[in-house]
Amino acid sequence: MALDAQVSFVEYGESEYVIAKGSGVAGKQLIDTGDCRTTRPSGTPHRFTGHRELCIFCEAGHRSPGLPSTASHAVLISAPLQIKMGFIVKVGIIGAGMVGSAAAYAIALMGHASSIVLVDLNQALANAQAEDISHAVPFASATRVSAGSYDDLKGARIIILAAGASQKPGETRLQLLSRNASIIGGIVSEIQRVAPDAILIAAANPVDIVTQIVTRVSGLPSTRVIGSGTILDTARFRTLLGRYLGVSPFSVHAYVLGEHGDSEVLAWSSARAGALTIDKVAAQVNVPLNDEVRARIDDGVRNAAYTIINGKGATYFGIGAGLARLVEAIGRNQHAVFSVSMVTENVEGVRDVALSIPRALGSDGVVTDLVPELAPEEHEALRKSAEILKAQVDTLEL
Ligand SMILES: NC(=O)c1ccc[n+]([C@@H]2O[C@H](COP(=O)([O-])OP(=O)(O)OC[C@H]3O[C@@H](n4cnc5c(N)ncnc54)[C@H](O)[C@@H]3O)[C@@H](O)[C@H]2O)c1
Repeated sequence: MALDAQVSFVEYGESEYVIAKGSGVAGKQLIDTGDCRTTRPSGTPHRFTGHRELCIFCEAGHRSPGLPSTASHAVLISAPLQIKMGFIVKVGIIGAGMVGSAAAYAIALMGHASSIVLVDLNQALANAQAEDISHAVPFASATRVSAGSYDDLKGARIIILAAGASQKPGETRLQLLSRNASIIGGIVSEIQRVAPDAILIAAANPVDIVTQIVTRVSGLPSTRVIGSGTILDTARFRTLLGRYLGVSPFSVHAYVLGEHGDSEVLAWSSARAGALTIDKVAAQVNVPLNDEVRARIDDGVRNAAYTIINGKGATYFGIGAGLARLVEAIGRNQHAVFSVSMVTENVEGVRDVALSIPRALGSDGVVTDLVPELAPEEHEALRKSAEILKAQVDTLEL
């Protein structure tokens, strides 16, 4: 057991207990049974009272671990508790191309994982990406970034599937289907062998179909197989609405539902900025929000990927940041809400189809669905989107 490990970056190894920070404490002690132990052998244990962010507080106000002021204290906490608190998040990424590497880069810079392992058929590429990203880490966090094989994914809590051919100019996501579907099965069975408890996040396109395939092939509960779905489309919607209304996209609550693709549905009727409907915000800031403006924003959201692909061949920074945010929400059990894809029992009467609706994400995956209120035409568009996806899935022999 390493005695000087930083709690946020220790590896979840064979040992049941790990030391958080400090020096000279030996033995095993569980902080979740109620003790904070001083590093001095004579020290009286203090009651553990709670935790905030990366700090654990005892009744004497000592905070540990991870902060310099805790020099005289060290805390031993159980690995399961660390996992619950989000200290140990090992992330595997299959596919070290543009999307996989952008996700690794964002996760590492934001420090959302204790370690990241990149796996790719192209081993030289995975090695080079891991090396390059690990050189950015000293400027930002202490995430350990490496390349490896499936065996190195042992202990991963979250695995991102970003392997596959990317969309070519003019190609729809559904046309990608035949190129990508066949490799999914093999990847999933390798993952199941080494990390059967990991939560899987599918990013490869067509992401809704891939999510459906992964769910079926893995046999995992649908709540543990999450597709990145429309997180990117939702981000684009919030960005364009925010820009137009003069409000930070952070404060715009608006979702894109259904397929990550051509039939996606912008849920205008439930969109809010702050606590107001966007119609009221538009009236207050004195800008029109008429059909023409809405059509322009709709077009910007729906066709952003095509525009970017025409300009630079692929999209990856946006999805990379979005995947990092999903990792954070799962790793830290945040119950934060994202428009992610998941096989859903019933969407507008269409059964067992993977598509996006807003859902809260925590350490066990999807915690709950939060279907927004929709206008009749949005209900209808969502039903059509679900039917399109269902028809695609039905052509696959799953
Ligand atoms: N969900 C989204 O919003 C979103 C956004 C952009 C791209 N994508 C999708 O993400 C996927 C990856 O895109 P990209 O731009 O990174 O492509 P890329 O070609 O740059 O990278 C794909 C990587 O996957 C690897 N690979 C292929 N088969 C593999 C296998 N069986 N095992 C391990 N590795 C394998 C390749 O060697 C390659 O390095 C595509 O399907 C793309 O359409 C999704």
